[in-house]
Amino acid sequence: MGRDLLLRVWRGDTSGGSLVEYTVPVEDGEVVLDAVLRLQATQAGDLAVRWNCKAGKCGSCSAEIEGRPKLMCMARLSTLPSHSITITPLRTFPVIRDLVTDIGFNYARARQVLSFTPPPHLRPGEYRMRQEEVERAQEFRKCIECWLCQDVCHVIRDHEDNKPAFAGPRFFIRHAELDMHPLDTLDRRRMLREQHGLGLCNITKCCTEVCPAGIKITDNAIIPMKERVVDHRYDPLGRLIRSWRRR
Ligand code: SF4
Ligand code: F3S
Ligand code: FES
Repeated sequence: MGRDLLLRVWRGDTSGGSLVEYTVPVEDGEVVLDAVLRLQATQAGDLAVRWNCKAGKCGSCSAEIEGRPKLMCMARLSTLPSHSITITPLRTFPVIRDLVTDIGFNYARARQVLSFTPPPHLRPGEYRMRQEEVERAQEFRKCIECWLCQDVCHVIRDHEDNKPAFAGPRFFIRHAELDMHPLDTLDRRRMLREQHGLGLCNITKCCTEVCPAGIKITDNAIIPMKERVVDHRYDPLGRLIRSWRRR
């Protein structure tokens, strides 16, 4: 059954903007992206919005719906207020136009993660892992790079000045995936502490709550990595052995 929905959409660009109200017809079973694309097709042809798969797989349609970071293609209208909904761009990243933000911060951070480094004597095809090791990394590989966890994390959401020192939850799981890989030879713990700001995370778990891929970012990646970094830093025996090896 059809009905009219009041959409409040943030419209603007780098110089500023405001919420603009539109009335859009919607149908039962639709998602927010359906309403936004209908708005674009019928009333606001110049509305800037990113989307791609409409299936929760590409990570493009991230926005804030009623102030909460979500994928627009996965947000059912039936779960939201029936009279009106407000859609704004991701708050943590600079707006380019309307619902599209500049997410370059994340790509710059991605380039800083050192790639998988297997032992030099092994060639592709010679890698061997136990099934449980494969499964542990598999959870982290479900990331669709929607940046919702990066957007919601208060460390950079509320403190722009932390951005140079904090990579964010998406990159903590990337580090965890590599660090827990039995064939990776790099020790990433110092880098994670000194360059990627793992210590700034105070385990609020907001990142885990918004992850559309259901990754237990805090429990399965951040907390284990914090433990490994602390072990590395405060392990007097390990430090003795390392200094002995350097001689
Ligand atoms: Fe999105 Fe989850 Fe990946 Fe973060 S970890 S970028 S919330 S899929
Ligand atoms: Fe931020 Fe997630 Fe830590 S929201 S504070 S990275 S638990
Ligand atoms: Fe691909 Fe929403 S359009 S995740």
